[in-house]
Amino acid sequence: MSDTHISDGEHEDPSRRDFIYISTAAAAAVGAGSLAWPLVSQMSAASDTRAAGSIEIDVSKIEEGQQLKVLWRGKPVFVRYRTQKEIDAADAVEIDGLRDPETDEARFRPAFDGKIHKNILVMVGVCTHFGCIPVGEAGDFDGWYCPCHGSHYDTSGRIRKGPAPKNMVIPEYTYISDTVIKVG
Ligand code: FES
Repeated sequence: MSDTHISDGEHEDPSRRDFIYISTAAAAAVGAGSLAWPLVSQMSAASDTRAAGSIEIDVSKIEEGQQLKVLWRGKPVFVRYRTQKEIDAADAVEIDGLRDPETDEARFRPAFDGKIHKNILVMVGVCTHFGCIPVGEAGDFDGWYCPCHGSHYDTSGRIRKGPAPKNMVIPEYTYISDTVIKVG
């Protein structure tokens, strides 16, 4: 049995075709789509990495403009394949005026070739205010929006407006091949 499954696809807004929720917990699948299953088959974590609290994610199956949501250590991790427009918007921000100043580039880890590839953004999908899960492609900056108390994050996951004090967190991750990242 695969250890990776779709956990709550039936609760997703059906209009959000780019939003796929995968959990590494062992339980029966409750929902699946034709797009999701190939991803699932690629994403079973090896037993040694599970034991260390790590997960491996094949990012090659994510298409531009899509976001994958993966459960890691009980928290959602967003893996978003950003569009060029989103990358440009994040690059254009003056960091001096940010509540939690951080360049877009600083929010990436080197890919397998040692370079920064700013198309694949990996971050813990938890609002830094009181821990709600923000909605993607929403808010005043077309990044993420937390509906709990109205925090707006930009396309880099940086807090731009609302009560959240910090940017969404970049987890510890590394590329273990050209297309597979290990989170944790
Ligand atoms: S938990 Fe997100 S704005 Fe309060």
